[in-house]
Amino acid sequence: MCGIVGYIGQEDTKEILLKGLEKLEYRGYDSAGIAVLNENGVQFFKEKGRIAQLRDAVDVSIEAKAGIGHTRWATHGVPNRMNAHPHQSASGRFTLVHNGVIENYELLKREYLSEVEFKSDTDTEVIVQMIEVFVNKGITVEEAFRQTLTKLKGSYAIALLDNQDSERIYVAKNKSPLLVGVGDNFNVVASDAMAMLQVTDQYIELMDKEMVVLTKESITIKNLDGEVIHRNPFTCELDASDIEKGTYSHFMLKEIDEQPFVIRKIIQRYQDENNALKLDDKIRKAMQEADRVYIVACGTSYHAGLVGKQFIETLAKIPVEVHVASEFSYNMPILSEKPLFIFISQSGETADSRAVLVKVKALGHRTLTITNVPGSTLSREADFTLHLHAGPEIAVASTKAYTAQMAVLAILAVDTARTKGIELDFDPIQELSIVANAMEILCDQKDEMDKIASEYLSTARNCFFIGRGIDFYVGLEGALKLKEISYIQAEGFAGGELKHGTIALIEEGTPVVAIATQETVNLGIRGNVKEVDARGANSCIISMKGLEQVGDRFVIPAVHELMTPLISVIPLQLIAYYASLQRGCDVDKPRNLAKSVTVE
Ligand code: F6R
Repeated sequence: MCGIVGYIGQEDTKEILLKGLEKLEYRGYDSAGIAVLNENGVQFFKEKGRIAQLRDAVDVSIEAKAGIGHTRWATHGVPNRMNAHPHQSASGRFTLVHNGVIENYELLKREYLSEVEFKSDTDTEVIVQMIEVFVNKGITVEEAFRQTLTKLKGSYAIALLDNQDSERIYVAKNKSPLLVGVGDNFNVVASDAMAMLQVTDQYIELMDKEMVVLTKESITIKNLDGEVIHRNPFTCELDASDIEKGTYSHFMLKEIDEQPFVIRKIIQRYQDENNALKLDDKIRKAMQEADRVYIVACGTSYHAGLVGKQFIETLAKIPVEVHVASEFSYNMPILSEKPLFIFISQSGETADSRAVLVKVKALGHRTLTITNVPGSTLSREADFTLHLHAGPEIAVASTKAYTAQMAVLAILAVDTARTKGIELDFDPIQELSIVANAMEILCDQKDEMDKIASEYLSTARNCFFIGRGIDFYVGLEGALKLKEISYIQAEGFAGGELKHGTIALIEEGTPVVAIATQETVNLGIRGNVKEVDARGANSCIISMKGLEQVGDRFVIPAVHELMTPLISVIPLQLIAYYASLQRGCDVDKPRNLAKSVTVE
């Protein structure tokens, strides 16, 4: 949610910043800007819209040795050129980019900046104006930066330029992600290593409430008390090709197709040389000791959590509650005596989930994060982490992370059952291998999904996804995928619940996608389809081999009944993808959204 980059060195600063922003565009794309600095001072360019528009607006002849850039997902102030970053201080001496939210900006404005005329509606501008006000009182830029940081409440990743000093970039972080990249005679800063893989694979992690002064030869990290901190770089193991589309037209399609490979990678990573499940003993102990598991997540990860509840309860026999993170803090349930909290998050940066993590840690409870991003905030701050190994997910709509989350939850559930001595007739490695093969078969049937999307959705205003039991959870995810990338109003519903009110919305031709993969509820869901058909619905039954009936629109291969969500979601992901394409929407960057939601 908002991405920032910075570069100081001898190469083409403007191009490095623009390329970096292109890689960060998934974090927000309402507006973008860069500022570059040379001996003649700072020059900046900003535009509403995408990085491509910014690129068109940048003066190509410009040469600079330091610069910062930003791609924005609007929080305070509408997305327009005025509110786009960078922001400048009143005199124009300081230029700053910021990711995060300054909660006390109005208070700071009143206390320190009553004389200053503001140029934007953003909370960010307060930071740059305060730095200038403090410098004007006669202290150094570094000290003014530090003093300003001590007064900020909220989240920030910041990069600052001083147009009287082209040798330095000032950087700081609190709660928003930020890395410093180390180069040979240059240094960089980025919200995400992907942005700067083009120039380095060596990164230093920053902790909350740290500030850094970067020159091209040096990196000085300090805490806000001014004490110097030494930290070694790590090698980022991402491959540059992981973050390219290759021959695909969209990242989403590439990521859907990667799912069989991801499942096989998970099998490989969670198995030892004797084919036994491989999990940290501390995680095993925490699961074994828990009298109740609380899964906390948002959006698609929450939907994976609902399926995870089924796995853990059915296999490991531990009661599970699943909570939407943004509601949990204000509506905390009565907790059991020995709870274990599991946070599921693709990005590992979601602020709503982190708020819960901080709260339950303060209460002394154990925490486990399941994430796709090693080193992310939720991973660092939880007691334990399980990695998804899905590779970077760039499309805003989550696909491969969702199926990876369910696969890892299944492994965790089985491992816990085995640790507890529960006899199971379920081998997750074998079942996941069957899933991976079935996924491949489904990914080869894209033309059929394209047809289904055009038959049911090309002119639809709304759409319902119904299922019972575990199929209901997949319906929730199918509806979310369709909403976010095609803008068709869609709802996931428990098949039997529709008649208690919502069936009033069914009209002649309303598309209803029904998922039928569970033997116990096969007749039930078909009864629900008859109810909507009788009211004129255009129903589309997606069933599983062995349970299919004449007239079903699509039949998915047979897998273990617990594993069906991992494959029944694939047609739904593809239908959403094609509906989005057919309606001319921006598949990878749907309106109003951003990939990693780092504001509460
Ligand atoms: C939907 C989607 C979102 C995320 C949600 C949580 O396709 O991607 O609903 O699932 O914002 O994000 P993470 O998993 O990064 O915590």
